Amino acid sequence: MPDIRVLSDADAVVEAAARELEAAARELEALPSDAPFHLALAGGSTPEVLYRRLAKVPSAWNRLHVWFGDERCVAPDHPDSNFGMATRAWIGALPAERVHRMQGELAPEMAARAYEDELRAAFGDVVWPRFDVVLLGVGEDGHTASLFPGTAATHERARWVAANHVPKLDTWRITLTFPVLNAAQRIWILAVGPRKAEILRDVLGDVRDPARWPVQAVQPTIGELVWWLDEAAAPGLDHAEPRTP
Ligand code: 6PG
Repeated sequence: MPDIRVLSDADAVVEAAARELEAAARELEALPSDAPFHLALAGGSTPEVLYRRLAKVPSAWNRLHVWFGDERCVAPDHPDSNFGMATRAWIGALPAERVHRMQGELAPEMAARAYEDELRAAFGDVVWPRFDVVLLGVGEDGHTASLFPGTAATHERARWVAANHVPKLDTWRITLTFPVLNAAQRIWILAVGPRKAEILRDVLGDVRDPARWPVQAVQPTIGELVWWLDEAAAPGLDHAEPRTP
């Protein structure tokens, strides 16, 4: 069951999510094992503010391995690159061997296969990799990561990573697939601002239609799902009491 947290504004969302992420990383560091902390990043405007905030506590990230939930098919120094954005905001300060980028400059299918190989090398012989935290956003059309309505990768149930053609953007994206997202320990969806109000009303309402709104296919198999929202994005959702639909 998702946990819906509605905070006063975008800054409050960033601050609360940052604190909880730091706490999760420190909790893992306190364990006697040397298990890595696997985090998958999202693209988009709210995550960028979060990454700048996370850059302020470098001591929490000794076990961190950074991955990406999706990437645009551009070179890493292109303004649209999720890796480029995250590098400028935060992860440029981390050791390069703990940052795992999708190679958006390659042919999409090749980039997807290369990323799946890199994930398999890190996670070993498992059915699905289990990220400690997957950060996601939601688009106004109900997409999440680069799983857009009506696109082939929304149906992928075997591969870990897919090259996804997105006709409405006339472009390709590289994306983790739903079984990978759903295997995570924690899935956090961040959405702030009034532009998200309509889609949130739809996807958090009573109608279930993941073909129309792919973000509804985010259903953790054993982990937790948290929606981090601000009041502008969630009018009508109770501010004081986090709600579970
Ligand atoms: C991307 C994303 C994408 C994003 C949503 C929301 O690379 O574009 O990972 O799924 O999270 O489109 O983006 P905003 O928060 O900027 O609206």
